[in-house]
Amino acid sequence: MVVKDVERDAEVIALLRRANEQMAVLGYTEHGQRHARLVGNIAQNVLLWLGHPEREAELAGIAGYFHDIGNVIHRVHHARAGAMIARDILLRLGMDFDEIALIMGAIGNHEEERGDPVSEISAAVILGDKSDVHRSRVHNPDTLAFDIHDRVNFAVRRSFLRVEEDKKTITLELDIDTEVSRAAEYFEIFMSRMLFSRRAARFLGCRFALTINGNSLF
Ligand SMILES: [Fe+2]
Ligand SMILES: [Fe+2]
Repeated sequence: MVVKDVERDAEVIALLRRANEQMAVLGYTEHGQRHARLVGNIAQNVLLWLGHPEREAELAGIAGYFHDIGNVIHRVHHARAGAMIARDILLRLGMDFDEIALIMGAIGNHEEERGDPVSEISAAVILGDKSDVHRSRVHNPDTLAFDIHDRVNFAVRRSFLRVEEDKKTITLELDIDTEVSRAAEYFEIFMSRMLFSRRAARFLGCRFALTINGNSLF
């Protein structure tokens, strides 16, 4: 049971597609397969770079892939709903009960409002999720109608989460087009995410850093 099995599953595909459509209707940025893949990949890589066991990294990848699937029911409490949805699917796919339990906790704790890093894979999912800020996430085709979230995401040309095991540092590197959005706007909406990422990094024994256009800011 690996990430690829989840990605190929017809039910997962259908749920993520509907979740993303509904989020677009509500004016949110992209929350579909692209976000799922990216967060799963980053979560898996964070643990691999830090020298964690491969299976643990794979579980982080699966939890990352599932983390926002609960949006198919409602944005509010989507983390909790997502954990239950993932449980049903993983049971059907025959996954080990203990692994499912670990994944449920990671999905259920990924939102900064009411979540906490509760395990290594949970911390990895948080870091993956909070580092996905990028122009390709913007649904709104009308740049004049952008809200602050659209503007900040659209301004980000490159985002990369750098993991340095030797320095025990995890750095989110962003390149921002300052004509579209100022760095101050980024902080206005992303401060709570940065603090959450810092807690997640600490859980993994690392410092969290942020650079915008090459300048260290956090
Ligand atoms: Fe979420
Ligand atoms: Fe997310």
